[in-house]
Amino acid sequence: MATANGVEQVNSLQSICYKRSSLKLLDQRKLPIETAYVDILDTKDGWNAIRDMVVRGAPAIAIAAVLSLAIEVSKLGHYNTPNDAASFLTERLDYLVTSRPTAVNLSDAVTKLKELVQKVASTASEAQTVFEAYLEAAEAMLEDDIATNKAIGSFGASFLQKHQTDPKKISILTHCNTGSLATAGYGTALGVIRAVHEQGLLERAYCTETRPFNQGSRLTAFELVHDKIPATLIADSAAAALMKAGRVNAVIVGADRVAANGDTANKIGTYSLALLAMHHGIPFYVAAPLTSVDLSISSGQEIVIEERSERELLNARGGMGEQVAASGISVWNPAFDVTPATVISGIVTEKGVITKGSSDSFDIKSFVQRASQP
Ligand code: MRU
Repeated sequence: MATANGVEQVNSLQSICYKRSSLKLLDQRKLPIETAYVDILDTKDGWNAIRDMVVRGAPAIAIAAVLSLAIEVSKLGHYNTPNDAASFLTERLDYLVTSRPTAVNLSDAVTKLKELVQKVASTASEAQTVFEAYLEAAEAMLEDDIATNKAIGSFGASFLQKHQTDPKKISILTHCNTGSLATAGYGTALGVIRAVHEQGLLERAYCTETRPFNQGSRLTAFELVHDKIPATLIADSAAAALMKAGRVNAVIVGADRVAANGDTANKIGTYSLALLAMHHGIPFYVAAPLTSVDLSISSGQEIVIEERSERELLNARGGMGEQVAASGISVWNPAFDVTPATVISGIVTEKGVITKGSSDSFDIKSFVQRASQP
């Protein structure tokens, strides 16, 4: 587990290895063939690692970004005033947030850290005090994420158990990668699968390939095999047949941004899975930390969907391998889609499961308000 100031202990599922003045990111583009870490020396390295998918997954992106600035800070020499320090940090955070647009976790972290450094600067007498406050807050984000994910896993497993006809034999389909690799550890939707398995209730996990970048076949399959969880890989296009065959009791996915009404942006293909689940009468759940909720947007229509390079479709291994499509074809490659709240059965968070009231809609704002009360 990565600790803020302590000794690094590397395991093959640890995407972020951090200690003061050293940040290494597991190069997820090379998995499952090779386990290689990339040194991140400053925010430019952090920005590039996020854009180039060395690190991916909404929570991991946020943590890696803010820690890349922690590394830059730990190497700074003398800085003039507390306000200069706050301006420097604000400018670097504004830069980092431009790396990828859809996941809200990074902009949520950036907003919180900007507020913190402004507040500390208004009373501090030395720049170092502002930097120290930044380092502690950024490091806390790394440390808090695993506890958050374990809570999501535990709420999700209890909820699934309660809502199954045979609570001892739950088969779950998931999409993309939402596990240890996409977070500081354990994972969100994959964390729920881990928790169901730990409780002896999992019959089988199914993971999609998740084309074009293959987060499912390369990363989720890797995690499932690593943890010896009974699991089967399917082509994205096999999901309908799998459901029709009665082999899945629930679908659970992660989120990059959840709007105030529950509309959820997640990896491209999530929307199709939700429609298929509805057709087959299978519950469809989203598992995400409250940092993935964006109450500033009323619906998913306002979510900016990242479009990625055509190379991800034209070449194998999400653009990293040999050419597999006809030269000259035009390509549309949205990295995410928005699943409407109407087809989502529940949203599993670290504070409990958000379900629909009698109005058949989510009241996420009230849930968040209740959750933030001491
Ligand atoms: O493009 P990616 O790999 O960053 O997309 C990741 C996803 O869509 C995940 O499902 C989401 O970020 C949740 S990760 C806990």
